[in-house]
Amino acid sequence: MSSPNTETNETTRSASTIWGGRFESGPSAIMEAINASIGFDKRLYRQDIEGSKAHCDMLVAVGILTEEDGAAIQGGLDQVRAEIESGQFVFRTELEDIHMNVENRLRELIGDAAGRLHTARSRNDQVATDFKLWVRDTLDGVDGALAKLIHVLINRAEEHAETVMPGFTHLQAAQPITFGHHMLAYVEMFGRDRGRLADCRVRMNESPLGSAALAGTSFPIDREKTAAALGFDRPTANSLDGVSDRDFALEFLSAASICAIHLSRLAEELVIWTSAQFAFVRLPDEYSTGSSIMPQKRNPDAAELARAKAGRIIGALNSLLIVMKGLPLAYSKDMQDDKEPVFEAADTLELVLAAMTGMMEKVTPNTERLRAAAGVGFTTATDLADWLVRELGTPFRHAHEVAGSLVKMAEKKGVGLEDLTLEEMKTIEPRLTEDAVKVLSVDWSVRSRTSQGGTAPDRVRAACAAARDRFPPPQA
Ligand code: ARG
Repeated sequence: MSSPNTETNETTRSASTIWGGRFESGPSAIMEAINASIGFDKRLYRQDIEGSKAHCDMLVAVGILTEEDGAAIQGGLDQVRAEIESGQFVFRTELEDIHMNVENRLRELIGDAAGRLHTARSRNDQVATDFKLWVRDTLDGVDGALAKLIHVLINRAEEHAETVMPGFTHLQAAQPITFGHHMLAYVEMFGRDRGRLADCRVRMNESPLGSAALAGTSFPIDREKTAAALGFDRPTANSLDGVSDRDFALEFLSAASICAIHLSRLAEELVIWTSAQFAFVRLPDEYSTGSSIMPQKRNPDAAELARAKAGRIIGALNSLLIVMKGLPLAYSKDMQDDKEPVFEAADTLELVLAAMTGMMEKVTPNTERLRAAAGVGFTTATDLADWLVRELGTPFRHAHEVAGSLVKMAEKKGVGLEDLTLEEMKTIEPRLTEDAVKVLSVDWSVRSRTSQGGTAPDRVRAACAAARDRFPPPQA
């Protein structure tokens, strides 16, 4: 939060030069502190200036502004942007927000012409436009980061198309799978995240500019022109909705939350897999941390933090949902509180995506250990039941029972299914042959799972090729 500006902290302060016409005194320091958004909305400076430049061009084109005033405004806005980007600009709390900070500086630079820029516009349509542009840019950045992560996961999947590992349900050994197949599951999840972002982008891409305060304006503005200049598909259809809609931010946060959940699941698997008891994978030093007391430790802190940070992103979505709930039309100042959750969620998501991409690029699967673990827990029992169905025509329910009895026998003897001799197995089902013993190997098991979307190495390789087509690689 920005602190009250002590310079202007007197009992009677002068009213704002921007909206103070009907006021005798200015706001108290507390009022100023709660009202100001400049502490965070300065992040919108680029979009604010872009929006003002488009608005100015349009005002000149329709004859509301003279060419001279338009040129002065354009030059002044360029200078304001340069001052902000070089760090010279002084942001002032008493000027509340980015819109008034920019306009005030413009007035200092070019004089009275600056006051004409706000014709046929309000801060309500201005902020809706700025924020939409910011969310749109950010969404494109997140999409690029996801494309990069997907690219890394497909590479790892291809590299480990044959690496056998245990697949789990209920975190209990279920059936052998391939590491590549596991990676491709996440490719699907992150691919859907990209789809959600794309949907959100299409729906949000309408320009609120020209909605003015809420009712539209009596000036002959050209909303199509400003919409096109700002890369929007069209202007919003209703001016009340134009200034009061924050669905675009909610949709972005929803997509971000689901993506964060996916990242947290992958992070959790890294946490489990790196433990000494699993030892399925190793994270390199650059993504591990040590303990100040236990010399043996290699902690997966980045993965744990990625898991944790989903909480912040989901929290941001909740926060904005609750801000928006029950707000009457059109603009309410509550909506100024839309930005911080979105900024925080976007920053967090970008960081987590970068960390997970780095870890997935560098993680080393322990292939021997994975292969050994793949058979632990009688994971090929289903293969045996399937053999009975396929080769002997046994109904699956009965085959399930036979395989279950063999598991019981192996468990009693303290061995794996593949360690039982054919003789021993025949005491339960005399028609079993050497072929039935073969299906108990983890390699046979994964190679046999050739159904569409299945774990067989050939399927995984084909799925990698298909995924490269379905998910365009990141732009360089
Ligand atoms: N700082 C404000 C916000 O972020 C800008 C809009 C202010 N509009 C108003 N009518 N006071 O929402």
